[in-house]
Amino acid sequence: MRTLKHIFENNKRWAETIKKDDPDFFNKLASQQTPEILWIGCADSRVPANQIIGMLPGSVFVHRNIANLVVHTDLNCLAVIQYAVDVLKVKHIIVCGHYDCGGITAVLDGTEHGLIDNWLRHIKDVYRYHREEIDQLKDSHARADRLCELNVIEQVSNVCNTTIVQNAWVRGQELSVHGWIYKVSNGILKELQSCVTNQEEARQLLS
Ligand code: CO
Repeated sequence: MRTLKHIFENNKRWAETIKKDDPDFFNKLASQQTPEILWIGCADSRVPANQIIGMLPGSVFVHRNIANLVVHTDLNCLAVIQYAVDVLKVKHIIVCGHYDCGGITAVLDGTEHGLIDNWLRHIKDVYRYHREEIDQLKDSHARADRLCELNVIEQVSNVCNTTIVQNAWVRGQELSVHGWIYKVSNGILKELQSCVTNQEEARQLLS
């Protein structure tokens, strides 16, 4: 299986299907992208951004990493946010987590996983901020679910606190930041908190 031939066959079929609906689709895309959404999601194979929101290529600018983290010093993520906000002028940034996230359960199970533990440290911080609320839940699944949710809200707050988003709001650019969570077991998205559209709403988010 050195060539992964089936994937190229899939690709040809997929491109043909799209062209059947819109013969000019790829030509139009080649000249520009005008996505209105930046999606920041988990790298998990079960949470593919475009597919779960039913959007075609060209509609969503995407950044994914383990456990959908927005780390203040992560140049990769910051570069994506800056390009999306300043150049593409997206109107929405969606941080989308998901239940049964391996990154979250790894934090709660307390075992070692190698280098990735340094990345998961950021989720341990989220746990530490909300320890009281999480620890009072009796069931381990409920604790993991709640940490998945709180992690999304913390990352929404991190997005809002970047100089990129702050400056966009200061200059009056229309930009809202959303926190969503996806359930792998039924394919359904849920909104976790109402969207943040300015500095005042951002300040209230975790207060
Ligand atoms: Co995940």
